[in-house]
Amino acid sequence: MSTVVLPEPTAQKLSSLDPALDLWAEIDRLRREKNAVILAHYYQDPEIQDLADFVGDSLDLSRAAAATDADMIVFCGVRFMAEVAKILSPGKKVVLPDAEAGCSLEEACPPDAFAAFRAEHPDHVAITYINCSAGVKAHSDIIVTSSNAEYIINQIPKDKPILFAPDRHLGGWLAQKTGRDMLLWDGVCIVHDQFSERELIKLKSQHPNAPIAAHPECHGGILQHADHVGSTRSILDYVVNGPEQEFIIATEQHIMHEMQKQAPQKTFIAAPGNDGSCNCANCPFMEMNTLEKLYLSMINESPRIEMPEDLRIRALGSLEKMLEMSPPVARAPQAAE
Ligand code: 13P
Ligand code: SF4
Repeated sequence: MSTVVLPEPTAQKLSSLDPALDLWAEIDRLRREKNAVILAHYYQDPEIQDLADFVGDSLDLSRAAAATDADMIVFCGVRFMAEVAKILSPGKKVVLPDAEAGCSLEEACPPDAFAAFRAEHPDHVAITYINCSAGVKAHSDIIVTSSNAEYIINQIPKDKPILFAPDRHLGGWLAQKTGRDMLLWDGVCIVHDQFSERELIKLKSQHPNAPIAAHPECHGGILQHADHVGSTRSILDYVVNGPEQEFIIATEQHIMHEMQKQAPQKTFIAAPGNDGSCNCANCPFMEMNTLEKLYLSMINESPRIEMPEDLRIRALGSLEKMLEMSPPVARAPQAAE
């Protein structure tokens, strides 16, 4: 288990924040004073994306965390992402604005249960989605993200059986793409699992010229209608570079902020959830990070990610394997404007 260091009792609290404080300017001052880098995932609130030094998908952010020469990494994403930053950059202080920012996939796969599952299948290579705890990474052979998983699986000898955790939708999609037989752990992302195929078909009939771009964490009912399936960055590149003017987006809705910035003349329509109207493509974990908590985490240098060194070293092995086996970098992580 990783250890998240909670704020000291004397540390400045949310309730004591002066409402007149210019948080943007204060965060910028702290970034310079503390030689901090702010990394943000595309699912973060737009105001956090706009002030970050780098915005990217999970792979971009892992690479940025490994490469930075900052003293402090402020990770605006969820806990497993901040843990990856600490595993790759152990000498840095790594803070996460809200220590409770977890992930339903991480919750679905406790390290002990995963270790037992592995032990039942000793002949399988354990390929694990990055959305898991450091404890699960420590029991894995190779970590993957949605942007490099297919490329990495294609490097595994054909006769080697594969065990994939924790996302059964991503695992199912990879099994189909690579033609490999894969034993899947039964976890889902609560955000991508809630899209409705029936409502998507209705929406498509109203926008017949809008291609559907979906994240592979969506269930098969959505993926089978998608014109493009890929990681958040891959979806972003697809809609920005494509000739069409209108797109249906089946992933967490905050990515539409970057889409709209890069292609202001285009229209992005959120894929509907089960009741056809709800605004449910919103990750409740990502939204725990706010500008106020970001500011406090920089002042207090807490919540901070710490973990036992033996755990870090075991988790590092599977992450280094991922970095070695990933496709070459197509472009640098994106600096926010
Ligand atoms: P990517 O940014 O790698 O596509 O991951 C999506 C996600 O769900 C992160 O939690
Ligand atoms: Fe986890 Fe899904 Fe939220 Fe990503 S969007 S952090 S996979 S719950």
